[in-house]
Amino acid sequence: MTHQPDHQRLLIVDFGSQVTQLIARRLRESRIYCEIHPFQKVDAAFLAAFAPRAVILSGGPASVTETGSPRAAPEIFTLGVPVLGICYGQQTMTQQLGGKVEAGHHAEFGRAFVTPTETPNNMGDPLFAGLFATGREEVWMSHGDRVTALAPGFSVIGESPNAPFAITTDPSRHFYAVQFHPEVHHTVNGARILRNFTDIAGFTGDWTMATYKEQAIEAIRAQVGGAKVICGLSGGVDSSVAAVLIHEAIGEQLTCVFVDTGMMRMGEAEEVVTLFRDHYNIPLIHADEADRFIDALEGVSDPEIKRKTIGRLFIEVFEARAAEVGDARFLAQGTLYPDVIESVSFTGGPSVTIKSHHNVGGLPERMHLKLVEPLRELFKDEVRALGRELGLPESFVGRHPFPGPGLAIRCPGEITREKLAILRKADAVYLDQIRRHGLYDAIWQAFAVLLPVRTVGVMGDGRTYDYACALRAVTSVDGMTADYYPFTHEFLGETATRIINEVKGINRVTYDITSKPPGTIEWE
Ligand code: XMP
Repeated sequence: MTHQPDHQRLLIVDFGSQVTQLIARRLRESRIYCEIHPFQKVDAAFLAAFAPRAVILSGGPASVTETGSPRAAPEIFTLGVPVLGICYGQQTMTQQLGGKVEAGHHAEFGRAFVTPTETPNNMGDPLFAGLFATGREEVWMSHGDRVTALAPGFSVIGESPNAPFAITTDPSRHFYAVQFHPEVHHTVNGARILRNFTDIAGFTGDWTMATYKEQAIEAIRAQVGGAKVICGLSGGVDSSVAAVLIHEAIGEQLTCVFVDTGMMRMGEAEEVVTLFRDHYNIPLIHADEADRFIDALEGVSDPEIKRKTIGRLFIEVFEARAAEVGDARFLAQGTLYPDVIESVSFTGGPSVTIKSHHNVGGLPERMHLKLVEPLRELFKDEVRALGRELGLPESFVGRHPFPGPGLAIRCPGEITREKLAILRKADAVYLDQIRRHGLYDAIWQAFAVLLPVRTVGVMGDGRTYDYACALRAVTSVDGMTADYYPFTHEFLGETATRIINEVKGINRVTYDITSKPPGTIEWE
């Protein structure tokens, strides 16, 4: 563990809320270094090693009124550092410190308004600094249970119609607890509340990308020593940033492997090879493995089996190439934090697996190479900031994300070479349209999806029976949530016409207007 040893550290104890990672994001925006760890892992020894300056207890799906529901390690409350409980965190904190929580008959989901209670001097509480300018705060609630009796030492300083104990504090011990979620955007001044809490804990905001870079470089050197490392490049921002970072750390010990799976976008292979071989002078193996991947996926239509097959093949290729570069012992990947949480469900607790991102959940259990994943704690926009810090060209840093499994997950159902060729052309026309209209940088990610349906059309005087394609474009900050991009009808009409005219095999175009959630960004 001992990440970022020279920084003030905040510990987030995860009870499995779907929005726990947003706590980390908000804190990072204030340049505070934090880590999220599942509650089961946080015991006295862990706390001693981590030495947090403050602790936040997250929300979670359980009810403290049920036997066997999660609890915070009691040592958290004797560390002598500020503690903030959020939602479930508030409830378990209250109960563990001697208060009472009842299963609610007043479940509350969505917007609510908190007002200060009539306690003397409550407005002087440092948690309130800069708040309640209009007399009340708009917050976002999501709870079934609620606190009904305070723990000794606590008092109520904020209430809402359905949560009479919306904000409770024991300032003498620096314990704070809120029923709502300050980490979500819908809690209008949520970031301010978190900042007030970290101010109380004495955080100075000492975590910057430049220092992250220096420490990541040291951590990579310490992890790999004199061993050789191979790094899988996908053409996306993440693996490129990981490669350049590792190159700075260990220079010639790194060889990059660009695996051409046959499922890349048009021109992608050439772009990546040119950037790394010519611009950076990083040794690069261009592995043309299209047949291996496409043949293995023949007849496979289940998305998880596709993803796992691709994950396994990547590792097979890397292991074969590792032997070629003279016994490489490490495999570097550009795994990000959202990849980790969406793919992993902590045993017995937190979040459910949504899909197996190929470089996390898609890995085979037995693998000879050890992993180096220097971006594992970062969000996408932080990776971009790190890329800039490392001097990667803006044209590369600003690229839309591209998933490791490539076009395979944009061809729902079984893939064939013919379908991939059609999809590649449609995608190129679509991206060309977006660039021509100056929209590329306003969009987080845009791509075409070739649907596994043929539809009837009429072109010239003839009947066509060709594939339908869907266009997807989303706005997002970190890929965790997303909304569809509001193109004009003119743009959509012009793009549909161009695709149908220029791409043989497609005779119908649709636009996907699903947000995430409930959809995901990719179709599989
Ligand atoms: P979803 O589809 O999960 O995608 O909403 C969120 C972001 O992650 C990308 N993505 C992946 N990236 N390996 C990757 O490196 C994967 O297996 C993978 N699956 C999805 C996706 O393109 C989007 O940016």
